[in-house]
Amino acid sequence: MAEAWAVEYKNKTKKGSYYRTRAEIAGQLVQKYCPTGKYLDFGCGQGFLVGNMASRGYEAFGCDLSPEMLKIAQKNGEELGLPSNRFCVNEENDVPFHDRFDAISILGVYPYIQDHDLFTRRIREKLRDGGLVVATCTNRVSFFTYGALLLNLFRIKNYKSNYKSWLHSNYALIRTGTWSGGGTSWRDIGRASRCYSAQSFDEMFLRNGFRCLDSVDLFNLSLLDKGYAERRPAGKWVARRFAWNHLAVYEKIG
Ligand SMILES: C[S@@+](CC[C@H](N)C(=O)[O-])C[C@H]1O[C@@H](n2cnc3c(N)ncnc32)[C@H](O)[C@@H]1O
Repeated sequence: MAEAWAVEYKNKTKKGSYYRTRAEIAGQLVQKYCPTGKYLDFGCGQGFLVGNMASRGYEAFGCDLSPEMLKIAQKNGEELGLPSNRFCVNEENDVPFHDRFDAISILGVYPYIQDHDLFTRRIREKLRDGGLVVATCTNRVSFFTYGALLLNLFRIKNYKSNYKSWLHSNYALIRTGTWSGGGTSWRDIGRASRCYSAQSFDEMFLRNGFRCLDSVDLFNLSLLDKGYAERRPAGKWVARRFAWNHLAVYEKIG
């Protein structure tokens, strides 16, 4: 299962792909607000961003829930000269390193987290005062979600007798804005209604001791994302409501 995901993930993180671009934007934002220091990519997958940040001069670390992903990340890190102890498997929602970090990125991970507030407070404890989080959330009423639902409607024939799985992906898309919903059971997906808009994500960080410094909203539709850095106020308004991913930088306060 993890190997299959690893292959799929490798394709999704090719140069110019959506995930790769998202990670590069996150790296640039970290550099803008915290030009040096100790950096962690939580849910690092195959470790692309860890390597990228290390090459920008950060003391970069990565952790992931999946041991298979971690092995690949370690191997990729070794090729860049990073010691294997820069990577560690984490227990559900826990940061597996003792030190505090100057910046932590959490990209594409929140859909898998059950209790967003609790997790965000744990992350806060692992940051130095004034430290940064760069995180993404999925907007469940995005253009991408509408498109995916429409596509699924036409693909019903491909599911043949497995209509339960067809219903499952539709339900996951409606509830969470992602194909899998970040969970396997109907019950998990049913619970996953907490934080799937830019506004609710910002509010969640605010009530857990952060303030928002910057944000970018990405559609996952390359045409609409081309001018993301130069959007006018109307474009920003639309993107904040209908883009698929909200990527924001939050600073630890208090
Ligand atoms: C969609 S991938 C994103 C990977 C990478 N952050 C990126 O943006 O390209 C989600 C990753 O989060 C990991 N993950 C899911 N739940 C996690 C958790 N509770 N703690 C750490 N990693 C987790 C998965 O194993 C997977 O590698």
